[in-house]
Amino acid sequence: MSVGRVRPAVAAMASYRPGKSAAQAEDEHGITDAIKLASNENPYPPVPAVVEAIAAAAGDVNRYGDHRAADLRAAIAGWLDVDVDRVAAGCGSVGLLQQLLLAYVDPGDEVVYPWPSFEAYPIDVQLTGGVEVTVPLVDHTFDLEAVAAAVTDRTKLVLLANPNNPTGTAVHVDQLRRLVEQVPGDVLVVVDEAYREFVTADLGDPITDLQPGHPNVVVLRTFSKAFGLAALRTGYAVADPEVVVELDKVLIAFAVNHLAQVASLAAIAARDEVQAVVDRITAERDRVVASLRADGWDLPDAHANFVYLPLGSRTDVVFPEMEKRGVVVRPFPGVGMRVTIGTPAQNDRFLATLAEVAAGS
Ligand SMILES: Cc1ncc(COP(=O)(O)O)c(C=O)c1O
Repeated sequence: MSVGRVRPAVAAMASYRPGKSAAQAEDEHGITDAIKLASNENPYPPVPAVVEAIAAAAGDVNRYGDHRAADLRAAIAGWLDVDVDRVAAGCGSVGLLQQLLLAYVDPGDEVVYPWPSFEAYPIDVQLTGGVEVTVPLVDHTFDLEAVAAAVTDRTKLVLLANPNNPTGTAVHVDQLRRLVEQVPGDVLVVVDEAYREFVTADLGDPITDLQPGHPNVVVLRTFSKAFGLAALRTGYAVADPEVVVELDKVLIAFAVNHLAQVASLAAIAARDEVQAVVDRITAERDRVVASLRADGWDLPDAHANFVYLPLGSRTDVVFPEMEKRGVVVRPFPGVGMRVTIGTPAQNDRFLATLAEVAAGS
């Protein structure tokens, strides 16, 4: 007899698989000096003003934080020039994603998303008993006509990671508009912009260019990546006030912790310094892409803080050899390998290790 009667939907689910840490790889392979380029983290610590704000607030954690993160919502609204009742804060953008699923998806309802994409999507859909409707990528990017065609009267949500994880490709807001115009107004189109700050191409902004006139567009963003606050877990949504009200009903009490709020507020205030860090990362990304292409690798354009190598079955040979040499990247077995942009030295090591492994395989 099993312990407790777990819901069948949960029993059938896989757990979220975080990227392997450098320490785990060192233990497994008996090596030292491994580097982790597997979770699309910022390789740099938060800017000094943010670290100081976190340190100054550390003594306050005997109290709960502000459940609604009101100051943070107000700061985001002021920064983005949107009404404050259009802003929700959550425990990472994955927290908000789960809130969207809990608020909008009943068992049997359909959630449409391109695939491969962010691995949290199927887990959240399965959690709510929803039906996953996946639409294959074409040339590593969204086939938005096929996404629109996959929407039925059972569809509640369309999930689009833009840039997409793991492929790093991105679509212009005009393409998103064509999709939104084909979708019924009561289907929420969620544009997950976890990597938005790394986009250097002119792809428009769904908040200014799409949300006016399309109240069913929900934009998710995060402080985890560009702002370097992954461990603190702050994400935010910009959406119609009606959607924000429903999201707030399913927000776990005090989910956005006090240090996360303090740090995110300080990060908004220091956003010019943050931009300088982002610029270093995107310059490195462009260098890595150019270097890989010069070495003959075929890869899609990279719009986020990672590159994607569509190696197919070769992934299963190259990835373990990279890891044995202390370069921990993210494999998608039989499909490809995603590599986070690190410091210049880490990127050089990745490029040299890949060349070495490729020469031997
Ligand atoms: C597409 C996408 N959305 C959301 C997230 C999660 O971000 P957060 O740390 O805000 O939960 C990630 C993280 O890898 C991601 O790739």
